[in-house]
Amino acid sequence: MAVNVKRISEEELREQQAFSDKISAVLSSRYTKQPLACVVTYGCQQNVADSEHIKGMLAAMGYGFTEDRKAAKLVIFNTCAVREHAEDRVFGNVGALKKYKLANPDVVIALCGCMMQQQHIADKIKASFPFVDLVFGTHVVHRLPELLYKAMTGRRRVFELPDTDGVIAEGLPVKRDNDRKAWLPIMYGCNNFCSYCVVPYVRGRERSRAVKDIEAEFQQLVSEGYKEITLLGQNVNSYGKDLEPRVTFSQLLRRLNAQEGDFRIRFMTSHPKDCTHELLETMAQCDKVATHLHLPFQSGNNRILKLMNRGYTRESYLALIDDAKALMGDALSITSDIIVGFPGETYEEFLDTVSLTEEIKATGLFTFIYSPRVGTPAAAMDDPVSYEDKSRWMRELLAVQERISAEQMAQHAGKTFKCFVYGKGKLGEHYLAARTDGNLIIEFEGGERLIGTFQNIKVTEPLTYVLKGEMEPARKEV
Ligand code: 5AD
Ligand code: SF4
Repeated sequence: MAVNVKRISEEELREQQAFSDKISAVLSSRYTKQPLACVVTYGCQQNVADSEHIKGMLAAMGYGFTEDRKAAKLVIFNTCAVREHAEDRVFGNVGALKKYKLANPDVVIALCGCMMQQQHIADKIKASFPFVDLVFGTHVVHRLPELLYKAMTGRRRVFELPDTDGVIAEGLPVKRDNDRKAWLPIMYGCNNFCSYCVVPYVRGRERSRAVKDIEAEFQQLVSEGYKEITLLGQNVNSYGKDLEPRVTFSQLLRRLNAQEGDFRIRFMTSHPKDCTHELLETMAQCDKVATHLHLPFQSGNNRILKLMNRGYTRESYLALIDDAKALMGDALSITSDIIVGFPGETYEEFLDTVSLTEEIKATGLFTFIYSPRVGTPAAAMDDPVSYEDKSRWMRELLAVQERISAEQMAQHAGKTFKCFVYGKGKLGEHYLAARTDGNLIIEFEGGERLIGTFQNIKVTEPLTYVLKGEMEPARKEV
């Protein structure tokens, strides 16, 4: 059990269950048809995982689901605070519900997630969005039944935003978006305080789930037929540091890899400062662990990395990549996050990011223009470069990565990969989309019943971002 972590007790869960039953009663007295809920999720996979629990709790109350906001009796926006753009979208979308709510006073509008955990945002919602009924923070998701009940039956709006270091709630119901591919959070929060990032403020300190709880959920997923299971944490490499006895992320991976069944394990995000040789070796040795490393470097310049409080240098990052390539060879695929235009970054310093991008040859990049976040140290730094200039730098970086991606893709022509077929493709009506171990996407023609299975696919034509391929004859559909 983690030190200093509040684990939600069975009794608290029972209390919530009682509220859930009360809501069911209210819903059946109010509506003759099954009421629908619309849960809109912004941001990262952790939010997607939280929304799956929210939907699990709502399903237990009797709600059905819709993607049409204006067909719903309950609309929940699960928000993201990482960049301003995400926040603006939420304000726009919430504002667009005003008329609907005024015409349908029985509809409940709720906001939750990282954005709400910031005081200035909660204040703005209170003052300028009076039609929002319920606002709850990241540490009280498990109390949704109680909070929703209060919002539905009381006369006041409910704002529940405790600023704790967080809790771990096991045993919540879950309704997953996909029946073959699952998200599995192994830890919550972040201790790193990168100077630009709001996450440690809104998600609290790092806390790891117990190995036995993760293993139980993992086994359950495998037995239900899930094939791709992605372990989630802001910094999975520091998993278990708060557990007693201590467990490393590598040890957890090895235990999960040893489970019976045909599945693939992915994980994200790795932090370079905590990524160890042991982890890379574990990835190389465990046959069910994908050889994909999402290892964000953010910047290729040491002065900027220091200002970002990242805790590694360009050289130590490159040493990690060399180590990973030596251990996994061609099977390895690397992806990264990059921030362009950190306060005070010069064009020459930005070019160090471009050259690091050239050196590591990532298969994919997630690139962001720096966005100031209230309360973070970087927001107080001088930021003289204009947004237009930063956008120009960004286009320059993307052009470089496009060339690298195309070169990398070209090297895969004729190779065969074991792939997980995850859904419909985009290249044409009969195309399916499949993911290789290294997170490349191959599209091929095939029947929909192949979705959710592993297949061997041979690359016939590399395009810029996807590969075109065909199923190996031995396993071709008959
Ligand atoms: N501005 C721009 N990008 C950011 N990220 C985090 N905070 C900011 C910010 N303030 C990016 C980082 C991180 C990813 C999830 O989002 O690259 O790795
Ligand atoms: Fe933010 Fe850094 Fe934590 Fe990632 S590691 S969530 S970028 S503070």
